[in-house]
Amino acid sequence: MRLAFLSLLLFIISDRGHQLTIFGAHAFDYNNNPNVTQHVFSESMVNYRKTFNITYGQQKKMHWLRIILMHESYACYKKTSDDILHPEMQKIIKNDGQEKFDLIIMECAFCQLALLAEIHDCPIVKLTASEPSVASHSNIGNDVNPAIYSDSTRFPYLHGKMTFLERLSSVFYHFAYLCSFSIPNYIYYMQKIEKEHPFPGITKYAHEVYNSRLALMIANTSPEFGHVRALSPYTIQIGFFHVEEPKELTNFEVKNYLDSSKNGVIVMSFGSAIKTADIGTESIEKFLKAFNQTSYNILWKFDEPIDPQIIPKNVKLTNWMPLSDVLAHPNVKIIIHHGGLLTSYEAIAREVPQIIFPLVYDEGANAKLLADRQVAIDLDLDDFDEFRLIQAIRDVSAPLFKDNIKQLRTLAYDQPMNKKDLAVFHIEKVIRHKGRNRHNMNVDNTVRYLFDMYLLLSFVIFLMTASCYIILRKFYLNFDKIKSE
Ligand SMILES: *[C@@H]1O[C@H](CO)[C@@H](O)[C@H](O)[C@H]1NC(C)=O
Ligand SMILES: *[C@@H]1O[C@H](CO)[C@@H](O)[C@H](O)[C@H]1NC(C)=O
Ligand SMILES: *[C@@H]1O[C@H](CO)[C@@H](O)[C@H](O)[C@H]1NC(C)=O
Repeated sequence: MRLAFLSLLLFIISDRGHQLTIFGAHAFDYNNNPNVTQHVFSESMVNYRKTFNITYGQQKKMHWLRIILMHESYACYKKTSDDILHPEMQKIIKNDGQEKFDLIIMECAFCQLALLAEIHDCPIVKLTASEPSVASHSNIGNDVNPAIYSDSTRFPYLHGKMTFLERLSSVFYHFAYLCSFSIPNYIYYMQKIEKEHPFPGITKYAHEVYNSRLALMIANTSPEFGHVRALSPYTIQIGFFHVEEPKELTNFEVKNYLDSSKNGVIVMSFGSAIKTADIGTESIEKFLKAFNQTSYNILWKFDEPIDPQIIPKNVKLTNWMPLSDVLAHPNVKIIIHHGGLLTSYEAIAREVPQIIFPLVYDEGANAKLLADRQVAIDLDLDDFDEFRLIQAIRDVSAPLFKDNIKQLRTLAYDQPMNKKDLAVFHIEKVIRHKGRNRHNMNVDNTVRYLFDMYLLLSFVIFLMTASCYIILRKFYLNFDKIKSE
């Protein structure tokens, strides 16, 4: 899904007659456009999956710090090294003068390949398929005050509505991140890559190049969804951009099932990355028990072998469905999903109220945001039973949820400009002006967080307290002297 988002944006750019060289995990169909050259990091993806081999079900039960320390940064290090060593990438790094790039578009955790922008003397555009991390926001100059905004990939807290304890962990995380000691092995692996794979003729660090050449960030966020934050002028929000007009369903089995479900359908899908096994046998049984007691029909994206005996009559399992088109069917009344941003957008675009069981990353935060807007109910996969689910199905069927989601959709689609045109306009503007459109406002953290001012203030308070103490002491001593005389 995430890949679909990125490839769609690249597809639109390629359609404008630009020459594109794309490196990615998968190859996509760009209508055989002769201007598009694709290289697939197939080997490095296989290696990445081997190194970072923990299921979403396991990740949900792990602390994020443990995931980073134990697996993620090493896996990113391995993958980035493999990507750099890709023969086609090596050609670009060695830059024989044959090819000249006007722009680097990137979406990755380790920014080593930002050095390509230095080699080709061109700007960088950053893409994010979900709400950007603290690092991405602060690089482009967005407000990252941790008492207002938490990192939504780590904490499912509502921006601006955090309790004291939530603010405490958000602030702690933020300053730990600033001081780089929260994730020392992350830094360690970044430096390891720089040592092991030096780029010819480049003496700068990748993060320096990245910060100085970053001209624009395109985020798949939307203020209507609840991604409300003070943004610098160099962040463009294109949430809902990937949702196309609904197409006729070509899978007739699914189409007939939806057509004939007069009591309405609940669609259940945990996205393309999460496997049914990730949600666990126990949960599957709870879902089936609850579904057996509703009058709705259920269409469930399911990829596990299962005993047909235990499947209630009103449940249909299918291993694939074009979700966005299925949701557009008038008989679909509710969707149960994992809170992925793209699925959430699709459900809003089709005005389908939601029940969300978040697993990892930003899904918890997405679920909270939609529950806060009363278009979804947020449940926990590790703490629910069939009665809770039946109650949620009943609650979310209320007209309130449907009305709210209709309103939300209308609001989100009331825009001066199509999001695709918006993205293309800003990318081409960066190319036209060679990245000079961004007035770089990167300031030192001492300045940003008023550290020097607080230091001065503490010194003044100390001086005042000390002088008060000295004056009072003198006064009392004199007073004692007068008394004794
Ligand atoms: C390929 O690029 C050329 C020159 O930029 C352009 O004229 C042509 O229309 C492009 N082809 C496609 C299929 O976009
Ligand atoms: C991940 O680990 C499991 C066992 O824990 C194994 O069966 C599976 O093949 C591994 N996947 C990859 C891609 O290495
Ligand atoms: C569904 O519930 C009914 C009772 O209401 C029960 O007889 C039936 O066995 C259940 N079906 C499944 C597949 O569990």
